Amino acid sequence: MPHKNVEPSIAYRLLYPGLTVMITSSWANLDDATPATSCTALSFRPALFGISISPQTFIHQLIRKSKAFAINLLSAKDIRSASIAGDISGRFNTRKVMDSGFTLLKAKKVNSKVIRGALGVIECSLEKRIPTGDHDLFVGKFEAAYAEADFSGYWTFNEYLPILYSGSTRNGTRHRFAQISKHFVEIPYQSDLAKEQVIDHTLRILRDKARQHPLDRSIAIRVVYEELNLRLSDSKYLVDHLLRQKKIRFGHGSKTSY
Ligand SMILES: Cc1cc2nc3c(=O)[nH]c(=O)nc-3n(C[C@H](O)[C@H](O)[C@H](O)COP(=O)(O)O)c2cc1C
Repeated sequence: MPHKNVEPSIAYRLLYPGLTVMITSSWANLDDATPATSCTALSFRPALFGISISPQTFIHQLIRKSKAFAINLLSAKDIRSASIAGDISGRFNTRKVMDSGFTLLKAKKVNSKVIRGALGVIECSLEKRIPTGDHDLFVGKFEAAYAEADFSGYWTFNEYLPILYSGSTRNGTRHRFAQISKHFVEIPYQSDLAKEQVIDHTLRILRDKARQHPLDRSIAIRVVYEELNLRLSDSKYLVDHLLRQKKIRFGHGSKTSY
C-alpha cells in the first residue's frame, strides 16, 4: 500500500498514543496540575527529564517562577480528572485543581506540590528552558522519585494502567480518546538467537579459510575481525567461545581441525 503524506502540523500524532502524565508546579500560593503527553527521559546520568510546554499555559508560568516541577504518573481511574485539567486553565480558573478532582500534597524535595494518589512521582528542579517553536522544552534535573509497589524496577501493571492519549477529535465529535493498556506480553529476548547466528556464521568463515591454509588462534581472530568487521575484543570472544564449545580446535604446529 502506498504511504499517504502527513501534514507537518499533525505529524506529531503519528507518535500517538502517548503516555499522558500530570505536571504539577507551585509558586507563591498558586498551584497547577496539567496533563502533558510531551514528556520524556532525556539523560540517565545525570538523570534529566524533558517536558514540552506551551508558553500560553499557566503551568509554564509557575515552572518558570518556581524553577521546579513534578511529573505525576496517574492510573486510568483518574482519566476524567486529567481530561478536565487539560480543558481548563489555571490562569482563568483559580479552582482548577479542585474542579478537576485532584488534591495536592507538598512535594518531598522540591518547592512544589504533587498529586495525592499518583502511582509514581518524579520531582525535578528546572535545569534550563529551551524555546522550541510554539512550545518550550523544560529540562528538569532529578531531585527525588518514588512509586507505589506496582513499580519494582519496572512497572508490573497490576495497579498501574497507563493513560495513553490518542487524540481529541474523531468523526466530528469533541471527545478526547484515551487508550488504556493492560495487556502484558512477555517475549523472550532474541539476543541469544542473534548470537547463535553470528557463531554459525563465524564457524562457516573459519571452515572456509581453514580449507585454504592452516589457522591458529591469532590468525583465526584476525580472520573474524576482518571478515565480520567486528571489534577485536568481540572477535577474540567468538574464537575463544568456539574453542570452549569444541567447535574448533587448533592442533600442534598451528594446524587447524574442525
Ligand atoms: C492528554 C493531553 C495532553 C496534553 N499535553 C500537553 C503537552 O505535552 N504540552 C502542553 O503544553 N500542553 C499539553 N496539553 C494541553 C494542556 O494540558 C492544556 O492547555 C491545559 O489546559 C493547560 O492548563 P494550564 O493553563 O492550567 O497549565 C495536553 C492536554 C491533554 C488533554
